[in-house]
Amino acid sequence: VPGPTSWDMARAFRSVRADPLTFLGEVAERYGDTVSFPVPGAPALLINDPVDVKHVLQTSARSWGKDTVQYAALARVTGPGLLASAEPGWIEHRRLAAPAFHHQRLEAVGDEVRAAARTAIDARLGGPAPRRVVGGEVVDVAALTHAIGLDAVGRALFSTDLSDQAQDLLRATSDAADLVVRLGRSILPRAEWTPTRTNLRLRSARRRLDAGAAAIIAERRARDAGRGDDLLGLLLDSGMHDGEVRDELVTMVIAGHETVAAALAWTLMLLAEHPDAQDRVRAELDSRPGPVPLVGNRDRLPWTRAVVDEALRLYPPAWAISRRSHRDDVLGGRAVPAGTLAIISPWLVHRRPDLWPDPESFRPERFVDGTARTGYLPFGQGPRLCIGREFALGEMVVVLAELLREHRIDVPTGWDRPVAEAKVAVHPRGGMPLVVRRLGAR
Ligand code: HEM
Repeated sequence: VPGPTSWDMARAFRSVRADPLTFLGEVAERYGDTVSFPVPGAPALLINDPVDVKHVLQTSARSWGKDTVQYAALARVTGPGLLASAEPGWIEHRRLAAPAFHHQRLEAVGDEVRAAARTAIDARLGGPAPRRVVGGEVVDVAALTHAIGLDAVGRALFSTDLSDQAQDLLRATSDAADLVVRLGRSILPRAEWTPTRTNLRLRSARRRLDAGAAAIIAERRARDAGRGDDLLGLLLDSGMHDGEVRDELVTMVIAGHETVAAALAWTLMLLAEHPDAQDRVRAELDSRPGPVPLVGNRDRLPWTRAVVDEALRLYPPAWAISRRSHRDDVLGGRAVPAGTLAIISPWLVHRRPDLWPDPESFRPERFVDGTARTGYLPFGQGPRLCIGREFALGEMVVVLAELLREHRIDVPTGWDRPVAEAKVAVHPRGGMPLVVRRLGAR
């Protein structure tokens, strides 16, 4: 299988670390659909052909597990929660958590998500809309979307107001996420107990997350015995011990807010860069007054939903998905031995010009017909598909509605797109500074 040599990798070392997205794009362009990386031990393959991607994630999912460096690093923070856990324990956790994400339940928590959006918008952008357009100010919309993302998880999944601990949790999750990435990329991972700087900082982030989770669990136990059907209620009623509940809470906080927050920041950037698309969102929202629900928006608000789908194509927060084969297999007509590492990058697959003509252009029209697309996997594929998919898509539409009904977003003068930084999620380095103007009398 073609691919860079050890020498090439050594030379590219800095750029791999600084900007893995560009590096992956370059190797895929140079070596094709399957690229082999020179790592000691079993083969490591970057897989870009959607047929092979489907094979690994869906058709032969049972043969490809999550025992990879990426998930081992994540598990240092989340423990064996739903995202990082491997078979056989995973399926039970999935079944347990699933009702918290069913349509009926999501319909019931639409108000909570809307309240999360309203609280952050009102606090950061100031009160109800005045009657006319007023001068805009440059706002870091990524900070806004992070606040909304965390609050929405707290309200909808744990029925908890996280505002008291929001700053601590946001800082701890962001520290933990940075360190997970660092661990995942380190060449010589050290044992957890060695007092390296990374290990010590990770331990501190973990302690803060533990304290946050313990407070949420204690508050809920004190509040009600018959616990209700949100995620936290389901977990507590399941007989899990507190350590396991903690792992799921931390998993949902990390998986559920960083991703949505980053995706929303990129969506707002794309709408600021494309005022016509933004006007069309506003016109569509005006044609459907009243609160936007969390589910059913593909029919109700097809353009707004297409904007979200296209933003997730260009900026898929989960930029790399990894698996390891448990048995010998065949990929793209080639035999691969047990132990092979497969790296799948939605960022790359979403930029294949044969699947997505003019791939770098923002064209929500691609999704207006709503047809399922080959080579589109912002939420993964197969049995480990994101459990929060509907919740995330609904939340994104609800937040866009709450924000854009009353505000216009533009790029500041001298606009320079923030660099897409590949951390746990692809996020805008240094935030997303956009001009936000309040509109009136809509
Ligand atoms: C799994 C992306 C929002 C919780 C995944 C996977 C992807 C993904 C790609 C599959 C990983 C793999 O196969 O290795 C996203 C994106 C989101 C998002 C792009 C937002 C735009 C959420 C939300 C939650 C969540 C809101 C929860 C509140 C999870 C969990 C899993 C998962 C628990 C593991 C599911 C399992 O293995 O059974 N997500 N996610 N995600 N996501 Fe999301």
